Amino acid sequence: MNEEKLNLIINHAKRYGFIYKSSEIYNGIKGVYDYGPYGVEMKNNIKEYWWNYMVRYRENIVGIDTSILMNKKVWIASGHKKKFNEYFIKIKNKIYDIKKFIFLVFKHIDYKKKYRYIYNKILLLYKNKKFKLILKKLKLIIKYKKLLYLKNIKIKKINLMFNTKINSFYKDKYTYLRPETAQGIFINFKNIINSTKMKIPFGIAQIGKSFRNEIITKEFIFRTKEFEQMEMQFFIYPGEEKKWFKYWINSRLSWHYFFNLGSNNYKIKKHTNLSHYTTYATDIEFKFLNKYKELEGIHFRKNFDIKSHIKYSKKKIMIYNSKIKKKYIPYIIETSLGLDRVFYSLLCKSLINENNRIFLKLPYFISPIKVAILPLIKKDKKIIKISKYIYNNLKYKFNVIYDDKSSIGKRYHYQDSIGTPFCITIDKYSLINKTVTIRYRDNMKQIRYEIDLLYFFFKKEFDISYFFKREI
Ligand code: GAP
Repeated sequence: MNEEKLNLIINHAKRYGFIYKSSEIYNGIKGVYDYGPYGVEMKNNIKEYWWNYMVRYRENIVGIDTSILMNKKVWIASGHKKKFNEYFIKIKNKIYDIKKFIFLVFKHIDYKKKYRYIYNKILLLYKNKKFKLILKKLKLIIKYKKLLYLKNIKIKKINLMFNTKINSFYKDKYTYLRPETAQGIFINFKNIINSTKMKIPFGIAQIGKSFRNEIITKEFIFRTKEFEQMEMQFFIYPGEEKKWFKYWINSRLSWHYFFNLGSNNYKIKKHTNLSHYTTYATDIEFKFLNKYKELEGIHFRKNFDIKSHIKYSKKKIMIYNSKIKKKYIPYIIETSLGLDRVFYSLLCKSLINENNRIFLKLPYFISPIKVAILPLIKKDKKIIKISKYIYNNLKYKFNVIYDDKSSIGKRYHYQDSIGTPFCITIDKYSLINKTVTIRYRDNMKQIRYEIDLLYFFFKKEFDISYFFKREI
């Protein structure tokens, strides 16, 4: 990992109001973050882009917003109670990632030559989740090599769901914070069929918080305990899964490419370490700093979830096919994206340091603030009046900001740092010829433009409807 770049991103995100450590005044809480004023705007822009692309502009997908707390039986039926576990190596009070621990042990022996065969065999056991066997083999090596400080190792299984207590007058009950938004969709699937005109094939989409009790949180907001997911479950006729799986991989890739972060930074990878509900899966990976890592998952869940909810709830939530006069359970293709990971991917590639000038080269449609209105002479009442006039006219159309504090250099620097694509300066000529200067963030080019035409200029610059028209 590129530590230096990561620290630059973390410091920049804090200094310019994007992301703060949660509960910082109490020394924080590991793997949890807060989004500041510009962070929340940027997050909302990503959500809007996703929602428009996945829901608003499609006739065959509807949205939903389900609760975070659900009956705990949901998580028994979904298999999360039993199978949503991770395994670690424990020595006294220290917890190790198993793969890292294997590497740690083999560092002491010449695994590249003499012990390569055993090393590869243990890695294969890891891939197949044969943790007990791994433990047995590692113990033998530790004993043989007299690595005394590594003795007494244990395998620890940890369920990733957060328990939460529900107070009740008679009995304390409990449930879990949802570890994926998908289940809220599955248990409402029949409600959607009954209350809308959706017919198979169709999708249900949702954006919302998910919680996982990750033991090893990682790389800033890449892996956290509380995060947001943007998920869509696409319900199809059994047998049509290959067609739709391919469709959704391509469609999701197009969505990502439009950020313009470089198509070579994305990679498609078959997912091998499958979760309990998946038949097959593909990851869209992204080169965050210098390593490709999972950004989004496209999963073929077959009919695992609906079938299981039918079994556990004993409710008839099947679909009737009038053509073949038979009831059936639809298959599901899921697209599952972490909002925070998209945010992080944008930060990784947009923070530019060019000739000692730092700026955030965000795509215009993602920038938290679109235009900054900066009067050049603060004491001139007429200039302030025009500046306020421009601000008041534009603020209902775009997210604009008015700033008359500090030198123009410092104001430009601040706007560059929060990724504002355009700054408008108002000077004494604005009073004479009703024009202002527009400054471009990326190349600092400046042009003179008529005040009355500003709205049309920006409307054109921020319009991305051509993308939706092309893709959907
Ligand atoms: N409903 C399927 C599901 O949740 P997943 O592969 O476990 O599948 C989907 O998660 C996406 O959610 C990931 O590709 C990632 O973008 C995001 N994600 C998962 N765990 C995360 C975590 N701890 N922190 C941040 N994002 C996470």
